[in-house]
Amino acid sequence: MEFPCSNTHRAITMGISSLPGCLFLSWSLLLISPAWSFLISRQFSSAQSGIHAFQYETFYYTQQVDHFGFFEDLTFKQRYLVSDTHWKNPGGPILFYTGNEGDITLFCNNTGFMWDIAEELGAMLVFAEHRYYGESMPFGDLSFSDPKHLNYLTSEQALADFAVLLRYIKTTISGAQDSPVIALGGSYGGMLAAWFRMKYPDVVVGAIASSAPIWQFEDLVPCNTYYQIVTNDFKNSGPGCSESVRNSWAAINRMAETSDGLQWLSGVFHLCSPLKTKEDVISFKGWLSETWVSLAMVDYPYAANFLEPLPAWPIQVVCKFLKNPNGGDKELLQNIYQAVNVYYNYTSDAECLNTSQTASGSLGDQGWNYQACTEMVMPFCSDGVTDMFEAQTWDFQAYSDECYKQWGVRPRSSWITTVYGGKNITSHSNILFSNGGLDPWSAGGVKESLSESLVAIVIPEGAHHLDLRSNNANDPKSVLGARALEVEYMKKWIKQARRGKI
Ligand SMILES: *[C@@H]1O[C@H](CO)[C@@H](O)[C@H](O)[C@H]1NC(C)=O
Ligand SMILES: *[C@@H]1O[C@H](CO)[C@@H](O)[C@H](O)[C@H]1NC(C)=O
Ligand SMILES: *[C@@H]1O[C@H](CO)[C@@H](O)[C@H](O)[C@H]1NC(C)=O
Ligand SMILES: *[C@@H]1O[C@H](CO)[C@@H](O)[C@H](O)[C@H]1NC(C)=O
Repeated sequence: MEFPCSNTHRAITMGISSLPGCLFLSWSLLLISPAWSFLISRQFSSAQSGIHAFQYETFYYTQQVDHFGFFEDLTFKQRYLVSDTHWKNPGGPILFYTGNEGDITLFCNNTGFMWDIAEELGAMLVFAEHRYYGESMPFGDLSFSDPKHLNYLTSEQALADFAVLLRYIKTTISGAQDSPVIALGGSYGGMLAAWFRMKYPDVVVGAIASSAPIWQFEDLVPCNTYYQIVTNDFKNSGPGCSESVRNSWAAINRMAETSDGLQWLSGVFHLCSPLKTKEDVISFKGWLSETWVSLAMVDYPYAANFLEPLPAWPIQVVCKFLKNPNGGDKELLQNIYQAVNVYYNYTSDAECLNTSQTASGSLGDQGWNYQACTEMVMPFCSDGVTDMFEAQTWDFQAYSDECYKQWGVRPRSSWITTVYGGKNITSHSNILFSNGGLDPWSAGGVKESLSESLVAIVIPEGAHHLDLRSNNANDPKSVLGARALEVEYMKKWIKQARRGKI
């Protein structure tokens, strides 16, 4: 899964594929899935700093493949990681990371916030892997072989895994029986954390849901806000920047009219395989779009560096190349190349740029794609006027057809709102939603408090779940404030639980 970036030596991640995917259906499957996974991977960079040892023990718990029917009695091993270094036994709280679409060790190592606060809270850390990701494969190598084996990849089954696992942990770890549990997660993991508290309020006393777009479904939010946020990030990072990107699409189209133009483009962008067909040009543009979106997700205030090193505030660096939106086509496109090179070639060792790399996929990529083709239908659109992307309408039918082709199943666009309540969630309690102002995923997030205990925090200078990353000397004040408030709420929930008031 994970590592985005597509130059030759690194596989692009799944998530990434997504958005553009939505926009550029012809791209085929990847296109379909939403992009956060990707972000996840990228952002992880901060953890690498080595501030924490990330010392944990790895365990496997035997789960039912199907929690919701009694015919299928098969089981599989779910991986989970535990760190009890700072745990106050007995009764100290458990911070439970609701694993999302990827290898759980990544989330573990890259959710520095949990490691930063474990001592203060006297907390045990548990990171539970999501089924169908990492090592937690319900049917081993056959898990992705056909729609039948994929049938148990749903958020509801994953939440049930978490609930069953916690019951096991609390009954088998001496001293944990009365430990209040708080769910934490980012991105899809943040959605799971929020939903976990909603569906299993007896199991978790509260949830920190970071950058969780629980409303990016049906028509709960406008489908174009996502791309407008990306556009604003560019607009605010340098004069001429978003206009340059906006003007680049027509320039590419003009260039693509002749075979000389295609050859020129392929050369300028150092593409691994030259553009030849109309489809190649569409995926080239999709790849560019996804690059801009990815930059918005990882627009962090310090150099982040995991597999794909990036400078601090990478969009500002990109925008240094995009000051002149109105030069000729060739000048503009050469500048665009320089700009994407910040993303794909910051270390100067990329031999060529591979626009189809998103189509390769690890299991993680596949998993998210499948989820996007079943439950996780997130409408996206752009108009080219209020955003810097090519205009694309949201076409559910085309999306569904693409899913059918890919997976033999069709998405159900209203299921998530049916099962988790959409905007009608005020009967729930003790969920803190945090969103970054720079993060396109904040479009579908809860940005205003819904009640005294459904609290929203906005971090204006934050990209995708910045608050879950380790403390960093360059963190803006707003994220320090968010983290402090999150700790305050967690302490409050723990206290409430101890008084039996939850
Ligand atoms: C996570 O951290 C552990 C311990 O520091 C390390 O062994 C492991 O390789 C790391 N995993 C990833 C995916 O970075
Ligand atoms: C990456 O950067 C190096 C150094 O500037 C350059 O020689 C190389 O051609 C670049 N690779 C690509 C794919 O543009
Ligand atoms: C580009 O990426 C695709 C998909 O991962 C891969 O099959 C292909 O070999 C790559 N091309 C080059 C030249 O690296
Ligand atoms: C959710 O709430 C809104 C506004 O309160 C209402 O219009 C809508 O019908 C509700 N939806 C459902 C499914 O209950």
